[in-house]
Amino acid sequence: MKHLVSAGDLTREEILGLFRVAADLKHGWKVGRREAPLAGRSIALIFEKPSLRTRVTFEVGALQLGARGVYLAGGEIGLGTREAVPDVARNLSLWVDAIAARVYAHATVESLAAHAGIPVINGLSDAEHPCQALADFFTLWERGLDLGAIRVAWIGDGNNVCHSLLLTGALLGASMVVACPPGYEPAAAVQARVRRLGGRLDIVHDPRDAATGADVLYTDVWISMGQEAERVQRLEAFSRYQVNERLLGFAKPTALVMHCLPAHRGEEITDAVLDGPRSVALEQAENRLHAQKAVLFELLGASLDDA
Ligand code: CP
Ligand code: NVA
Repeated sequence: MKHLVSAGDLTREEILGLFRVAADLKHGWKVGRREAPLAGRSIALIFEKPSLRTRVTFEVGALQLGARGVYLAGGEIGLGTREAVPDVARNLSLWVDAIAARVYAHATVESLAAHAGIPVINGLSDAEHPCQALADFFTLWERGLDLGAIRVAWIGDGNNVCHSLLLTGALLGASMVVACPPGYEPAAAVQARVRRLGGRLDIVHDPRDAATGADVLYTDVWISMGQEAERVQRLEAFSRYQVNERLLGFAKPTALVMHCLPAHRGEEITDAVLDGPRSVALEQAENRLHAQKAVLFELLGASLDDA
């Protein structure tokens, strides 16, 4: 692993290796192990968009590993406006050991990776959210699900989180189905990449078809950051795609409900389902911390002997 820009850049072995490191770091932290394998290191945290989970988990994750996060608001550093993206990448490479970036255009994080001499981590772009997908599949793996045998149903927008989930699912052998309104399918390039990776992917338009027999129902907001101007048409397009108790009734009785959060309660998911016994949304949120610590640990070449 050199960068984490797209979920599809990893191999199955790298993903499973990250899960093992994440589980070890999670357990170690909980039993009071306090190594600092990244002592003295720094990680630039660039955010062009708002965040709760990603910012806190990168800052706290860095701290728990002995490193320091340096938060940089997008508006302040002006990626591509105040300064060209390659110049930002080259400069940061002189001072810090890694960059995590939440950006609008996916090309921005690709450009950071192309020009930085240090690892670059995508903390969400318009096209992908690989850290989220790693935490999500880590959550399922940790619960003992057979990732090569499960059927994961994505209900709603074929968006950035969906893209990374599909790519990770393909690498891990999960069977994936997306139920979305016509016109809101995952990007054709992502669908093609999923299939090239040997992934099993169905696209349907009736959420009940996707939910039937599913082990996991996953949903996300209908209006992602940057799409606020499309609010009216999106609310209309997605009105039949709510994850509620009726839809959950089509899934396996043991099915888990996932949401990357933040949720728009009453839109893509009801309170009863998000707060209900099948929901693992808070486990996913907790595991963002552990999965990203594993990513930092691996990308920065840490070993517990350094501690
Ligand atoms: N799921 C997620 O990335 O949350 P934030 O937008 O709050 O970082
Ligand atoms: N699809 C959402 C995910 C937020 C974590 C967005 O991009 O706003």
